[in-house]
Amino acid sequence: MRLVRHGGHETPRRTRAGSARRVAGAALATFLGAAVLAPAGPAAADSPLRDHAAQQGFEIGAALGVDHLQNDSQFADLAATEFNAATAENSMKWESTEPSRGQFDFSGADAFMDFAQQNNQKVRGHTLVWHSQLPSWVENGNFSQSELRSVMEDHIDEVAGRYAGEVAYWDVANEIFEGDGSWRNSVFYDTLGPDFVADALRMTAEADPNAELWLNDYSIDGINAKSDAYYNLIQDLQAQGVPIDGIGLQAHLINGQVPGDLQQNIQRFADLGIKVAITELDVRIDMPASQSELQQQAQDYRAVMDACLAVNGCVGVTVWGIVDKYSWVPDTFEGEGAPLLFNDDYQPKPAYDAVHEALGGSSDDDDDDDNGGGEDPPPTGPCEVSYSVANEWNSGFTGQVTVTNGGSSALNGWDLQFDFSGGQQITNGWNADWSQSGSTVTASNTEWNGSVPAGGSVDIGFNASHSGSNPEPGSFALNGESCSVS
Ligand code: G3I
Repeated sequence: MRLVRHGGHETPRRTRAGSARRVAGAALATFLGAAVLAPAGPAAADSPLRDHAAQQGFEIGAALGVDHLQNDSQFADLAATEFNAATAENSMKWESTEPSRGQFDFSGADAFMDFAQQNNQKVRGHTLVWHSQLPSWVENGNFSQSELRSVMEDHIDEVAGRYAGEVAYWDVANEIFEGDGSWRNSVFYDTLGPDFVADALRMTAEADPNAELWLNDYSIDGINAKSDAYYNLIQDLQAQGVPIDGIGLQAHLINGQVPGDLQQNIQRFADLGIKVAITELDVRIDMPASQSELQQQAQDYRAVMDACLAVNGCVGVTVWGIVDKYSWVPDTFEGEGAPLLFNDDYQPKPAYDAVHEALGGSSDDDDDDDNGGGEDPPPTGPCEVSYSVANEWNSGFTGQVTVTNGGSSALNGWDLQFDFSGGQQITNGWNADWSQSGSTVTASNTEWNGSVPAGGSVDIGFNASHSGSNPEPGSFALNGESCSVS
């Protein structure tokens, strides 16, 4: 058996979930809290997120900072109570686990694993090969191809091998493409070429045959050049027989900007026969956050949840942190923040209620302490339309239409149709793609507003001509279904 260094002491490397690490972490795990097991029966309406998720075989996860787990019991309580899946926010990254060549430090990673196991949480290993949080001995090592390949292999072997059988999914390679779909320059790509990804996947499969092997990136939530690059790469890997099990869409989002084709994007990856997850969800707001921005954020969380829940291969949603005050967002985006489900006082925000409802729980309308309470109950019909003339002159007018999704599930793409009975003719419009055939007007979602959560609304508008009279349309249909008119 090969000997390796763990935290400065030479210890035998274990090949499966090992007792040495478990014993070392036991005291910490006990300190952190009692085990929270998946419920046996149906979840009560106001149960934690994980109870509702478990009912649906869905994973609701959070990124956990080990410092917070160890030093903030309110954080650790929420982490244990609300989530059935977990990702280490930083402690499994290369700079944490192998700060110097061959010198492995698993103190943070072990503490994280112990917490997750103590609390019956499915673990996403994050991450083995990434250009960031990479120690300078790797980045600036001027290694030859064969040396760097063995540096990568040793790292994967030790890290994935240590937790073999305990990590459900590994983010094997992280953020390998640029926004335009070209390969990102990194020491790995620059030295080894694009094959470093296939190599890393095979090496991880060797180190932990039970782990699922994933790629992960940001700004690939919608269909775009970067997500196309992954779509093509995954097909290439599959054609070469390289093991690849999933793609993580990070979803670091800006308030009000959930891509309208998120579900379609998830579906196309699932159709390749791999799994998909939302791996790092947060929705950042220009600070200070207003009540209406927090409501918008709730809609965004709901839209992401609904998009994942609607696709069979989408296994779960992980939020990138728990309480706003510890999020990476304010450190990176000046003036932005409040991106998570709980506020600085550990209170659930409207976004929490939205996620809870998406999982089948009830909303929390009576709670005034959660930055604005829960969302309004959705209308009961499949859709509700309010139509008004905002401005009118002798040959034309401006029309405003609010469309509300009254159904119990999110819309992912919509068409609104109505008829003009007075010969009115649309000249231009906004917030929708407008067309008119005879008297029938069709407004279809744009690229960015196709996703409408249950109870959510979209405001659209147009200018039109008329020749004297301007009767209002009497009926509206959304995706072919008749709407109530208010
Ligand atoms: O641990 C040191 C501490 O000793 C020091 O005093 C302090 C001073 O700045 O820095 C601490 O390290 C910070 C580390 O987080 C731990 O808190 C780093 O500066 C900081 O850069 C690092 O940020 C992390 C970031 O990745 C690095 O790229 C964030 O916490 C983490 O949330 C973030 O996570 C990434 C995912 O891994 C990949 N996808 C994007 C996501 C957001 O950037």
